[in-house]
Amino acid sequence: MRLRPARLDDGFRCPGYQNLWGAPPLVRRADFADRHHFDPPSATKALPLSACQSKLPNSAILERPPMTGMFPATSMPDRDWWEALWPDPSGLLLSLGVEPGMTALDLCCGDGYFTAPLAKIVSGRVYALDLDPEMIVAAKAEVKQLGVSVLKWIVADASEVAELIPEKIDFALIANTFHGVPDQPALVKAVARTLKPRGLFALVNWHRLPREQTTVLGQPRGPRTEMRMSPEAVAAVLEATGFRLLRMVDLPPYHYGAVFEHKG
Ligand SMILES: C[S@@+](CC[C@H](N)C(=O)[O-])C[C@H]1O[C@@H](n2cnc3c(N)ncnc32)[C@H](O)[C@@H]1O
Repeated sequence: MRLRPARLDDGFRCPGYQNLWGAPPLVRRADFADRHHFDPPSATKALPLSACQSKLPNSAILERPPMTGMFPATSMPDRDWWEALWPDPSGLLLSLGVEPGMTALDLCCGDGYFTAPLAKIVSGRVYALDLDPEMIVAAKAEVKQLGVSVLKWIVADASEVAELIPEKIDFALIANTFHGVPDQPALVKAVARTLKPRGLFALVNWHRLPREQTTVLGQPRGPRTEMRMSPEAVAAVLEATGFRLLRMVDLPPYHYGAVFEHKG
């Protein structure tokens, strides 16, 4: 979700940054939490300059309009705490069952943090999709930096994935996004149409812990507590839409991976 200009009663002003009119931007508190994955300042009045500078790395984002079709609470986290949370993205992918020789999909790939190591494991046989063209630009750079490639970059809504991939694949990943999908059964059915019989669908989610307990680099992170899904809730959606649970993988400190097989 993009940060939007706000009314005074649900926002706060952030000095040290300027909007298009040269004034300190007014930020909606809920959007701030979704974008930055930590609690917004408690007061609606202006913050000290130092507090804002440490918390808002990119003032331009404050004034970008919301992108139509973006799932709620799924904007890409800042890289500093994402790296601290996921020190070994390649090991994570292997623990989910991706193997050399597979053809894979990184659905809602973001800035490529998992796309690049995934591409390395499957020697470039990966499709990467995101709604946000800026994420695709960042992901391309990430993949290039690792010296790998992907089969196709796709800027589109995730619900269109089945129409956009020209072959059946072995492994689909959706990481840190499923909690925000409004019509989860529809998305799961779309992913199913991309998979070979017995193909794998891996979902990486935040555990259903209170948000204030999931701190990284000293701040509460991740989607709001009430948006988080338990492994059982994810399994209920997948098992009702043609998948069989293969295994749950614990991904400390705050995540789990749920790996399903398409019944075909
Ligand atoms: C929280 S980020 C996670 C990125 C990546 N999977 C990761 O774990 O590092 C969620 C991503 O989903 C993308 N996204 C949100 N709504 C989408 C939609 N309707 N269709 C495709 N991508 C979407 C966002 O642009 C963002 O890049």
